[in-house]
Amino acid sequence: MSARLSLTRHGPDDPMPLVLLHAFPLDRRMWDDVVADLGDLPVLTLDAAGFGDSPSPRELAESLGRPLKPSLSSYADAVALTLRDAGVDRAVVAGLSMGGYAALALAERHAELLAGIGLLDTRAAADSDTVRAHRTHVAEQAAGPMGARAVAPMLDQVLGATSHAERPDVVEKVRAWLAEAPPSGIAWAQRAMATRPDRLAALERLEVPALVLRGAEDAQSSQEDAEAMAAALRDVELVVVPRAGHLSAVEQPHEVAAALRRLHERCRRP
Ligand code: MLT
Repeated sequence: MSARLSLTRHGPDDPMPLVLLHAFPLDRRMWDDVVADLGDLPVLTLDAAGFGDSPSPRELAESLGRPLKPSLSSYADAVALTLRDAGVDRAVVAGLSMGGYAALALAERHAELLAGIGLLDTRAAADSDTVRAHRTHVAEQAAGPMGARAVAPMLDQVLGATSHAERPDVVEKVRAWLAEAPPSGIAWAQRAMATRPDRLAALERLEVPALVLRGAEDAQSSQEDAEAMAAALRDVELVVVPRAGHLSAVEQPHEVAAALRRLHERCRRP
C-alpha cells in the first residue's frame, strides 16, 4: 500500500495541470461532466483518503508508519505528495467545499505548488461549536450501525431548489453517491473538517490568480463567505452560478467548467 492518493489524468500531458478536489462525502466522479467540457485541458482528479479508489486513512497511516490525524493539513500533505510523485511541481488547484478546505490548507502549507487556486462553494472560516458538535455526531453515527445512512439527510442541503424541482436525474445521482459513501471515510473527513482553523490569512499571502465561485442557491456556503475570500485575494474572479446549489459542478457543469478554463488561462499568462 502506498501513501499516495488515487489520481486520474485527463486530457493532454502538461507540466501545469488543473487539479480538481471533490466535495464531502463524494469522490472524483462528481467532476465527470466538468472534465468532459475541459477535454483539451490537462486535468487531474484525485480521491480524498477513504473515498473512491484512494486508500483508507488507516491504510495510509500504515504505509506512512505513523497515525494519520484527521485534519485537512494531513489531506493537503497527501495531495502534495501524490502530485510530486506524479511529476507535478506546480498546478492550478481547485476544490469544491471540502475540496476547497483542502486547497486552502495547500495554500497554507504548500504554496509553492500553487500556480492558481479555485475555491468553489467553500469558506475560509472555521466551524462554529454547533457545527463541530454536529460533525462529531455524524462521525459517530457513520462509524456505528448507521454507516452511510448518516449522510443521507445531506441530499436536501447539497442541491439547490432548481435541481430539486427540475433535475430528477441529478437528484438520483447524488442520492446514490451519498448511499455509497464509505463509512470510514465519512467519519475521518467529518473529524478532519471539524478541526480546521480559519485560513483567510493564507489567502492574503497568495499572489497567484484565483477563482471564487458559488452556486446562487448554495445553502451551505454563503455569499458573505465567498466575498470574504475574494476580498483577501489579489487577483480574483468572483463568479455566482445561477440555478445551482452547493454542488455547483454537478448541477451546472458547463458554467463551472467555463470558469475553471478562464482560471487556467489566467495562470498561463506570463
Ligand atoms: C462538502 O460538500 O464538502 C461539505 O458540505 C463540506 C462541509 O461539511 O463543510
